[in-house]
Amino acid sequence: MKGKVEAIIGTQWGDEGKGRVVDAVASRVDVVVRYQGGANAGHTVMAEGETYIFHLLPSGMLYPGKTCVIGNGVVVDPQQLIEELEGLQEKGKDRARLVLSGNAHVVMPYHKVLDGMEERFRGTGKRIGTTRRGIGPCYMDKVARRGIRVEDLLGPDVLREKLTFNLEYDNLLLTRIYEESPLSFGEIYDQALTWGEKLAPYVGDGSLVIYRAIEAGDTVLLEGAQGTLLDLDHGTYPYVTSSNAIGGGGCTGAGIGPVQITRMTGVAKAYCTRVGSGPFPTEADEESANRLRDRGGEYGATTGRPRRCGWLDLVALKHAVRVNGLTGIALTKLDVLSGEKKLPVCVAYSHEGRRVEDFKGGYSFLEKVKPVYKEFEGWEEDTSNCKNFDSLPEQARKYVEFIEKETGVPVVFIGVGPKREQMIRRGL
Ligand code: GDP
Ligand code: IMO
Ligand code: MG
Repeated sequence: MKGKVEAIIGTQWGDEGKGRVVDAVASRVDVVVRYQGGANAGHTVMAEGETYIFHLLPSGMLYPGKTCVIGNGVVVDPQQLIEELEGLQEKGKDRARLVLSGNAHVVMPYHKVLDGMEERFRGTGKRIGTTRRGIGPCYMDKVARRGIRVEDLLGPDVLREKLTFNLEYDNLLLTRIYEESPLSFGEIYDQALTWGEKLAPYVGDGSLVIYRAIEAGDTVLLEGAQGTLLDLDHGTYPYVTSSNAIGGGGCTGAGIGPVQITRMTGVAKAYCTRVGSGPFPTEADEESANRLRDRGGEYGATTGRPRRCGWLDLVALKHAVRVNGLTGIALTKLDVLSGEKKLPVCVAYSHEGRRVEDFKGGYSFLEKVKPVYKEFEGWEEDTSNCKNFDSLPEQARKYVEFIEKETGVPVVFIGVGPKREQMIRRGL
């Protein structure tokens, strides 16, 4: 194979800054691919004086001459995708060529309704705190082999047949289990056909487009959504999303052979955040959490919910190194830590009195762990204009070097502000 495939993925609970890191490297790659998740993602790119939040479109859309692929592993909300595309078109910023995989699954209106119903059914204590974008129910239909795929939106007869079958089933769920009103076939069918007409020009074979690009010697970038700790298999189950957010998900979600991925960059915030329920061993006390949230602007890019905030967790980060095979770490939001007097970094967990350094995602384990912290001296200096590693305050350099030493992985990128130019490149 002539070309290369690399991946940029989240190492924590999402919102690590994947969008801005993808934007930082997009100019030197040829194809950017989303391979899992859906409009639960919100990837922020601040460029050319504007803020863009990509939910379904890959974060390379602003670059002319590039190809952006929405892979088969993504669950596509057509309405959201159309709105996102139109938003860019109005500004003349839809500069890349878009390919939407025909075998990606479609988030239908009933998936969103069921997402809300399932959360309600779980009740206060067991709620996942989903984004209510229909992600879980859509992946459920995919696995149950009754899902509607993008290509089905282009065939009125197939669509009618599949939708009839699905709606019969889902309306039973809605009326008999959740005691809600049934959804109307006609309305959804007509809407789905309109979506199909609008999206038809983009529908193609994502895996084939990627294969041809690699054969032509191009570089392909896989853009992960969510993060390792939200991964269905390797995250903090059951408080996870319904897809494989880790780098390996890129193989199935885009149709690429595993050995083709040569670079795996994990994005980590210099501290930690989480939206939604579930264990968070290094969650800070209210005062510190409020401070981090204010300074870091920690409000969800998709739902606007305030993010829970806490300290860097190296036990979890080492887990991300392991399950993704990370070759580099992109450390974002280092600037947010300026002004913190002390910086606790979690180096181990204490579990029923024993020191544990290996992460386990299971809830029953995580709910019993206490973080063991190593405390760093903070720094006062503003780092948002630092252009290279040596210009960072000494304490900040020590912080970064400690992360490299503990994980055994080089920090190849440092974010010192949200804007495109506010970064320190160290080989990414
Ligand atoms: P993603 O989902 O991983 O792409 O991340 P989000 O876009 O949801 O959240 C990251 C937030 O942090 C966005 O508001 C970014 O603009 C912002 N951000 C990213 N990198 C940095 C950084 O280095 N410093 C600061 N201050 N903000 C950053
Ligand atoms: P990006 O790509 C942060 C969280 C939700 C919830 C759990 C399950 O922007 O990093 P879901 O709607 O997927 O069934 O919700 O996962 N979640 C995210 N948190 N960033 C994301 O995406 C997320 N996508 C889902 O808050 O806890
Ligand atoms: Mg996000």
